[in-house]
Amino acid sequence: MDQLKQIHLQTIVTGVSLDPLVCSMIIIFCCNHHLGDINYARQVFDKTPQPKVFLWNTMIKGYSRTTQTQHAISMYIQMLRTNVKPDDYTFPFLLKGFTPSISSKIGKAIHSHVYKLRFDSNPAVQTSLIHMYSLYGNMDDTRRVFDTSLKNDPIAWNIMITSYNRSKLFNESKNLFDKMEKTQVKPTLITLVSILSACSKLKDINGTKHIHQYIKNNKIDPNVKLNNTLLDAYATCHEMDTALEVFTNMKTRDVISWTVILSGFLNIGKFDFARDFFDRIPVKDSISWTTMINGYVSQNRFKESLMLFKKMQDEKIEPDEFTMVSALTACANMGALELGEWVKVCIDKNHNLKIKNDVFVGNALIDMYFKCAEVGKAVDVFKKMVKEDKFTWTNMIVGYGMNGFGNEAINMFNAMMKESIKPDGVCYLGVLCACMHSGKVDEGRKLFDDMRIHHGIEPEVEHYGCMVDLLGRSGLLSEAYEFINAMPIRPNSVVWRALLGACGIYKDVDLGEIVARKLVELEPDNGAGYVLLCNIYGACNRWEDLREVRNLMMNKRVTKTPGCSCIEVYGSIHEFVVCDRSHFRCDEIYSMLERITQDLKVSGYTPKSNGKFLDFGEWG
Ligand SMILES: *[C@@H]1O[C@H](CO)[C@@H](O)[C@H](O)[C@H]1NC(C)=O
Ligand SMILES: *[C@@H]1O[C@H](CO)[C@@H](O)[C@H](O)[C@H]1NC(C)=O
Ligand SMILES: *[C@@H]1O[C@H](CO)[C@@H](O)[C@H](O)[C@H]1NC(C)=O
Ligand SMILES: *[C@@H]1O[C@H](CO)[C@@H](O)[C@H](O)[C@H]1NC(C)=O
Repeated sequence: MDQLKQIHLQTIVTGVSLDPLVCSMIIIFCCNHHLGDINYARQVFDKTPQPKVFLWNTMIKGYSRTTQTQHAISMYIQMLRTNVKPDDYTFPFLLKGFTPSISSKIGKAIHSHVYKLRFDSNPAVQTSLIHMYSLYGNMDDTRRVFDTSLKNDPIAWNIMITSYNRSKLFNESKNLFDKMEKTQVKPTLITLVSILSACSKLKDINGTKHIHQYIKNNKIDPNVKLNNTLLDAYATCHEMDTALEVFTNMKTRDVISWTVILSGFLNIGKFDFARDFFDRIPVKDSISWTTMINGYVSQNRFKESLMLFKKMQDEKIEPDEFTMVSALTACANMGALELGEWVKVCIDKNHNLKIKNDVFVGNALIDMYFKCAEVGKAVDVFKKMVKEDKFTWTNMIVGYGMNGFGNEAINMFNAMMKESIKPDGVCYLGVLCACMHSGKVDEGRKLFDDMRIHHGIEPEVEHYGCMVDLLGRSGLLSEAYEFINAMPIRPNSVVWRALLGACGIYKDVDLGEIVARKLVELEPDNGAGYVLLCNIYGACNRWEDLREVRNLMMNKRVTKTPGCSCIEVYGSIHEFVVCDRSHFRCDEIYSMLERITQDLKVSGYTPKSNGKFLDFGEWG
């Protein structure tokens, strides 16, 4: 620009500065060159006597290139006012600069100019119109222009297919590619990437194979991105053998290639394979770490996920919000409060870095605190959240409920309604369970009715289960039994078990027998029904009947699923399963347990169920 300005000065000195050719050359440089200054071009342009359409086009193109599209539009309007007619280049230059921030009304107005001035059969104009419409995400309008176009420009096809992909209309994207194949137009690599990612979203293995074959047949040389998309499509279709084959044949692989294969193994449940593969990734990024950590979380292998999370910290890989949510989920499910707190410190520390402390992370924190019974801290997080979503409210309602804060859960539910957030089935389940835990029968009945009548949510079997539990625990046994009989869907064992539990509490042997029989019928191999029945007989001192049920269990070899619990000590997690003696300090633990039991007996505690909250966990 400096040199250009010097030459420009010379032309002024020598008096040729208004020569049309001189003006043109200066404007062309400023508008086309990547170092060109469009404002300088404008100054020269404004002094140029009677610029021709070529120069107007150059200015429009210059403005479009610098995304100052509003200036390009005003240039176009000014041009019409000076009675200069647009030519074949005007509209492509003008429309190419469009961004979604320009009103679509202006776009439509320009479209009607195109039509009136009869440029609508020009292929370049057609493509630029398709581009303009696609920006607004209205695929119907876009398709209408496309359908009337000549369809011989690969760029137009490309815009259509990528826009369908962006609008998540993957079917349309695929259908259009089928049409494209029948023409002579060759897809670009970007088109192929879009179409493969559509196949991946549709889990369309036939489509994927077809495109793969197409690539081979047409001797297309795929770049890494196209190969990665191909991997991804095979992996999401669970065709891991083919995915691995492609992976092995790739000349260049990046961390995305490795991560795609990793998630493929995780999706088909090959965990140990996945872990092995993960360990072999040469340079791991936060996404590959998070994929593996989250893979463990999705399999309830929380301990391993947290161990990996710690390793990630040791290797100084900066986590992102997805990593944090996975780690918090693991902490929540292990009750690992200490670690959860540490994750929170990480989040607070990295607030402005990679981790966005957004709703997503906030929700996971709330869930973690509630599951660790830290109600106050969960509420603190909630109060500090800048923005909440439906899941935030649901977490609060469910969390209050499971910690026995029935009133707070119901208040939270009402507050949510005041914010005009539409509750869903999960939300209702949360608040109904809260009613159940705090024995609020009337509120529960009302909520249950509201759910159907005012919100059109059909209750699912879990909602019925919750209501039965609520009625049963409140001693309304026959109402609960009638409620089950009136259910429009088949009650499952959870529903019956809830009532059976209540029969135990209120020592209703007759109903208990009926219900237990239903339960044993539904799940003959599950011990829980038998055990609950035993509890009832035990509570009523009907030892004969109790022995009979136990014998029945023995004969059928019914066992209870083993209980499991875990605790966190100084940040490490210890897991215990029933009858499991694998812990390295097992002997000490059992002798301590014995001492505690002795001490309890001495101070008068009898570890025998006395009929108040009986449940099968206490039996045997
Ligand atoms: C997509 O296509 C499949 C089969 O061609 C069809 O079953 C499905 O309903 C379509 N989905 C949409 C949203 O058009
Ligand atoms: C297609 O859309 C999905 C999301 O809808 C996006 O993840 C993917 O990157 C897109 N692919 C292309 C090639 O635009
Ligand atoms: C996929 O291809 C197989 C074999 O060519 C065929 O049997 C099947 O119907 C196809 N599936 C779809 C959804 O087109
Ligand atoms: C993509 O994969 C093919 C084999 O499927 C291979 O020939 C090609 O070199 C790969 N491209 C890159 C950039 O790795």
